[in-house]
Amino acid sequence: MRSFTSALVLLGGLLSFTQAVVPAPVEEKVLTPAGYRPKTKVHSVPAGSHIAHIGTDIHVIDAAGAVVRVVSAVTSTPTAAPVRRAPVLEEQGYIAFAFWLNPGLSPIASYQATWAVPPAPETYNGQTIYLFPGISPNQTSSPNSILQPVLQYGPSSTGGGEFWAIASWFVFGNEEFFVTPLVEVNSGAVLNAAMTLTGSSDSAYNYTSSFTDFPGTSLAVTIPAPYTSVIEALESYNITGRSDYPAGTTVFSNIALTLADGSTPDIAWITQNDTQDGVFSIVNVDGAVNGTMTITY
Ligand SMILES: *[C@@H]1O[C@H](CO)[C@@H](O)[C@H](O)[C@H]1NC(C)=O
Ligand SMILES: *[C@@H]1O[C@H](CO)[C@@H](O)[C@H](O)[C@H]1NC(C)=O
Ligand SMILES: *[C@@H]1O[C@H](CO)[C@@H](O)[C@H](O)[C@H]1NC(C)=O
Ligand SMILES: *[C@@H]1O[C@H](CO)[C@@H](O)[C@H](O)[C@H]1NC(C)=O
Repeated sequence: MRSFTSALVLLGGLLSFTQAVVPAPVEEKVLTPAGYRPKTKVHSVPAGSHIAHIGTDIHVIDAAGAVVRVVSAVTSTPTAAPVRRAPVLEEQGYIAFAFWLNPGLSPIASYQATWAVPPAPETYNGQTIYLFPGISPNQTSSPNSILQPVLQYGPSSTGGGEFWAIASWFVFGNEEFFVTPLVEVNSGAVLNAAMTLTGSSDSAYNYTSSFTDFPGTSLAVTIPAPYTSVIEALESYNITGRSDYPAGTTVFSNIALTLADGSTPDIAWITQNDTQDGVFSIVNVDGAVNGTMTITY
C-alpha cells in the first residue's frame, strides 16, 4: 500500500510539470452507527417501512405496500468476529457496552430496554453520541446485520444536531443503512425500546424495531436468518473532552429477552469499557429478566 501511495505521489509530481491533475472524486462520507460510510449507502426510509432481504436484493417497502427502493445485498459476507464490529477500544466507535451471544439456540423472540434521555452535554463540539440496544444474527453463519432503535445526540447522516433524537436503524453488513425519520426527544423522556419477532418460516424472519411510545420510529425487517445476539451500547464520535458527554450515568433498565421457543435464557452479560475515555459500563442486575446496566461518563 505504501509503495502504491508513493508511486501516486511520484506520478502526481511528474504530472504537475505538464498538466493540472484532476482530483479523483472524493466519495462523501456521513456518520452512521457503523462509523463514517458513503452517503449513497444511507437510505432514509418512511416511518413504518418494511425492509425485506430476499435473495440477493433488499427491498424497501413503504407502509402502503409499494416497493420504493431496491438495493443489492450481494456485499453481504458473514464475518468470523463474535460480535458485529468486534470490540475495538478506540476513541471513535463503540465505547462501552454489554452483549450476549446465543449461537445455535432458539431465535430471539423479544428484546427490550428502557432508559431516560440524558441531559444535554455541557459542551457541544459537533460530537455524536449513540445509545441503543440492538440485535444481530449469528455472525459466523449469517449475513451480518443489526436492528437497533437508536438515541442520538449530535449530527448523523439522518440529521441531528445539538439535541437528542430517536430513530430505528437496520444496518446491513456495514454496507447499507436504512433509517426512519429522526424524532426529537427531550432530556428526561423515558424511552422504551423494543425489538420483536412477529413471524417466521424456515427462510424468513420478521422483526420490528421501535420506541414503543413513538410510532414514527417503527421499522420492520425480513431477514433470512434469525437474530440470536443482543447488545446495549454507547458509541461516540468526535468527543473532545469529558464535558462532551452528558453528566452522570445512563441506566438501561427493564432489560428483557425471550426466545422463540418460549424460554428465557440464563444469561451473563459480557461488558467492555474504553479505558482511555474513562467511560465504563457495569451490569447491575444480570440475566434476561428485568436486567440493569449502567454507563458512567
Ligand atoms: C469528526 O471526525 C471525523 C473523522 O475523524 C472528521 O472527518 C470530522 O470532520 C469530525 N467532525 C467534527 C465536527 O469535528
Ligand atoms: C413477513 O412480513 C411480510 C410483510 O408483512 C409478510 O408478507 C410475510 O408473510 C411475513 N413472513 C412471515 C414468515 O411471517
Ligand atoms: C468496566 O469498568 C468498571 C468500572 O471500573 C468495572 O467495574 C468493570 O469491571 C469494567 N469492565 C471490564 C470488562 O473491564
Ligand atoms: C424491575 O426491577 C426494578 C428495580 O430494579 C423494580 O422496581 C421493578 O418492580 C422490577 N420490575 C419487574 C417487572 O420485576
